[in-house]
Amino acid sequence: MASVLSIVQTKGGSGKTTTTMVLARALVALGESVLVLDSDKQRSATEWADDAGPDLGFEVMSVPTGRTLQSAIDRYRASPEYSYLIVDTPPGSDDIVDKASVNADLVLVPTGVSPLDMKRTQATLNWFEDNADTPVAVVLTNVDKREKLLDLAQETLSSQARAALADTIIPTRSATRRVGSTVPRVTTKPFREWMELAEEVRTACREL
Ligand SMILES: Nc1ncnc2c1ncn2[C@@H]1O[C@H](COP(=O)(O)OP(=O)(O)OP(=O)(O)O)[C@@H](O)[C@H]1O
Ligand SMILES: [Mg+2]
Repeated sequence: MASVLSIVQTKGGSGKTTTTMVLARALVALGESVLVLDSDKQRSATEWADDAGPDLGFEVMSVPTGRTLQSAIDRYRASPEYSYLIVDTPPGSDDIVDKASVNADLVLVPTGVSPLDMKRTQATLNWFEDNADTPVAVVLTNVDKREKLLDLAQETLSSQARAALADTIIPTRSATRRVGSTVPRVTTKPFREWMELAEEVRTACREL
């Protein structure tokens, strides 16, 4: 039985595809078998995999409709072939994002720390409050650790009840900014927080 992780955030450009692909690679480095389901019609994850080639270590399947996403989750969740399905979703909210959210074992919400990021994260969490009982964890990403807004974001997020806040914080790094279309070198130092996040996610999934 595979664990289904959906990466959801209404705000565009918040790091969903980056989180999907680097986390997938980090889980593979931990010995897990991963299938990425790309539910975004823009196909960013699918194109990334095409560019990266077979060394990526996992496959990305394009499932750009609610129906194809649902049938892929139903089929591969039960397959002994994979230990994790990771669903990359489009920004905004629609039927696809709803399906990815409701069908997940764990939803990760990547977000930056700006006031706008916090507002959109709150809107994303409000949707879960009203529509799904899926466990949710917010992941602070693309963060400048010296930034004062980080403390404020941590305070805001740890005081709300609907979602956990991941211990791992993913910093802004040029290695991550440039990782698109390549095989993420997750065992190198600039990617160490991604490995920490993969271990944190794996522990969370085992405890679910
Ligand atoms: N930790 C990071 N450090 C530096 N740059 C980052 C980091 N995380 C994401 N980025 C950059 O932020 C931009 C947006 O990331 P990404 O494409 O993953 O977001 P997205 O949420 O999938 O966007 P969309 O909503 O359009 O699908 C990209 O240019 C990416 O390289
Ligand atoms: Mg994306």
